[in-house]
Amino acid sequence: MIRSRIIGFERALPPVTVTNDDLAKMVETSDEWISSRTGIRKRHLVSDQNTSDLCIIAAEKLLEKAGWDSLSVDLIILGTVSPDYTTPSTACLVQNALGCKNAFCFDIAAACSGFIYSLSVADKFIKNGGVKRAIVLGGETLSKITDWSDRSTCVLFGDGAGGVLLEAAEEGGILYEDIHSDGSKAMALTAGYRANKSPFYKAEPKNDEFIDMNGREVFTFATRKVPESIKKVLEESKTSMDDIKYVVLHQANTRINEVIARKLKAPHEKFYTNIDRIGNTSGASVPIALAEMNEEGLLHKGDKILISGFGGGLTWATMLIEL
Ligand code: UT7
Repeated sequence: MIRSRIIGFERALPPVTVTNDDLAKMVETSDEWISSRTGIRKRHLVSDQNTSDLCIIAAEKLLEKAGWDSLSVDLIILGTVSPDYTTPSTACLVQNALGCKNAFCFDIAAACSGFIYSLSVADKFIKNGGVKRAIVLGGETLSKITDWSDRSTCVLFGDGAGGVLLEAAEEGGILYEDIHSDGSKAMALTAGYRANKSPFYKAEPKNDEFIDMNGREVFTFATRKVPESIKKVLEESKTSMDDIKYVVLHQANTRINEVIARKLKAPHEKFYTNIDRIGNTSGASVPIALAEMNEEGLLHKGDKILISGFGGGLTWATMLIEL
């Protein structure tokens, strides 16, 4: 059976870092509130970069370190809810910058699960035999869809990108997955509403361009659905938590990760966290975390890890990977 093996992990963060104290000068908040409720202490925000710029940096590093010729890439998938344009896809902008002329490219909008959805789709193309090499990215400039006067959301989010290379292989790679959506809860987390601009539209256009979240509802959803999803992946793949080296959750809130670890009766140390210095970067959070773990020497060939994303849609997705 063809497998999709992960070859490299890279990330790109914009140079500007913004601390909780910096934000307290913009809205009525405090380092104490933000760090105790979320675990976040600082985040990176773009000044003049867009989502494609960050993704291009991460993808260039991936190709260079793996020694892949850009013409050998068959597919680029990019998970984002903050693309440069509706069309072209951000993946096509990355393709052009990298000279991956033989690749077909598209974006996936599954919010904080977007990178794992993208990995899943790339995995299917590889397993079907049509694709041998893929670049899978998650990138966001959430700062452009954040209302910087709304303290309930602006303290949470950051910008960044990360990604991996996938290659057809005989063993290892993506072993098992569990993927869901629940559109009945779609309004719990919205951003980027496209107003009706038809000349025949009679009502007052609604303006919902910025992130709007029912934090409590999303918290409850994540702490219920993610443990269920992880348990299902472990059971169906006949894997025990003892076999798992690390669990890499979407970095939304330290308290969410603690509840999930408790519900899974898993040691806290297995759960990698970087939310304190990166904030919530939606579809970029899991690949950024993987790249940082790799830089820190935590990832080794043969390790089994679980990755899990949850958020807007609502969507959630868990994947078991052998490195
Ligand atoms: O990535 C997508 C997935 N997203 C998530 O997983 C997010 C899940 N939700 C959460 O992480 C939490 O719900 C939040 C961190 C977003 C909010 O924490 P919370 O404990 O649910 O706070 P809350 O929204 O219930 O607000 C509590 C209080 C309110 O004041 P009152 O009404 O009790 O007087 C807010 O007005 O905290 C106030 N508040 C703030 N105070 C200082 C809200 N934001 C702030 C702030 N600084 N930045």
